[in-house]
Amino acid sequence: MIKIIDKLATEHNLSYDELHRLIEHRNEELAEYLFEKARQVRILHYGHDVYMRGLIEFTNYCRNDCYYCGIRKSNCNADRYRLTKDQILDCCAVGYELGFRTFVLQGGEDGYYTDEIMADIVSSIKSKYPDCAVTLSLGEKSYESYKMLYEAGADRYLLRHETANADHYSKLHPSILSLETRKQCLYNLKEIGYQVGCGFMVGSPFQTTECLVEDLLFIKELQPHMVGIGPFIPHKDTPFADKTAGTLELTLFLLGIIRLMLPFVLLPATTALGTIHPKGRELGILAGANVVMPNLSPTDVRNKYLLYDNKICTGDEAAECRMCLNRRVESIGYKLVVSRGDCKMR
Ligand code: SAM
Ligand code: FES
Repeated sequence: MIKIIDKLATEHNLSYDELHRLIEHRNEELAEYLFEKARQVRILHYGHDVYMRGLIEFTNYCRNDCYYCGIRKSNCNADRYRLTKDQILDCCAVGYELGFRTFVLQGGEDGYYTDEIMADIVSSIKSKYPDCAVTLSLGEKSYESYKMLYEAGADRYLLRHETANADHYSKLHPSILSLETRKQCLYNLKEIGYQVGCGFMVGSPFQTTECLVEDLLFIKELQPHMVGIGPFIPHKDTPFADKTAGTLELTLFLLGIIRLMLPFVLLPATTALGTIHPKGRELGILAGANVVMPNLSPTDVRNKYLLYDNKICTGDEAAECRMCLNRRVESIGYKLVVSRGDCKMR
């Protein structure tokens, strides 16, 4: 197995069988070896810098009904909200003062925000903060809509593929959603010129090692600038309420593999990772992650954007989160930097 990790570290590529064996035969010792290699690659390209993204969860309305998601349309217990353009700009103002140079606008698929409204929000942020990047995470849209938002100034787009196995995809989503469309959206985003992020939940219901290998091979093929992975965590008001959460151990192992597969990738240590373990985000960074995404949403809506149970930091002000993360990152010898944090891949 050590040889497989060495091959991954030098060639950045493994076959289906090699990936399968590596995941199936993983153990603590192998994980330590993998993380050491992942850190070396990460330090080579990004030093000890950790990039911050200010997450603005601007709507929890959603037309979709993904079985895993706490803000799915059928969850009548979700207390729905929308932020106005001014509220979003206020979040950016607070974030800018705190050193954020990337704002991530994330929400459910909410028809209230038409392309025109979104384009206006994006261009207002860009004209006020020309040194900042705007990342969108708004789900599936047409080529034309993505293009319009890109032309309004959006730089990046996050759209997790969720799983690269079509059968698995159909067990996580109602039949109206398909893996084919999801993948097409990602290719469209790339073609338009966005820096693109895909990703998946670790330990989602019905996920097998085969699914994970397909995920990794798809990521290699897509060559995204960012990959968002975090553990699946059940939400009490969803069809998956009784399913088991993904583990810290497997999430970290996959972070290490992804860092070696795509040396330049922007890899967040997610809030979900921090939710399943108190030191989850620190351990994520030590496994190869180089991004954190603290919340900039107003505190009165924080506890309404609940994708899963027991989400951390829902009561904290943005400044508290910033300080808390600073301490956490410094405690392991890394540093939060004031930077747009673009991908260094050419
Ligand atoms: N609507 C946009 C989209 O579909 O990409 C952005 C919002 S969506 C809630 C963001 C991500 O949250 C999803 O891609 C999914 O992987 C993650 N997520 C949803 N429910 C989750 C859960 N129960 N546990 C962990 N992650 C979850
Ligand atoms: Fe739409 Fe989760 S179901 S954001």
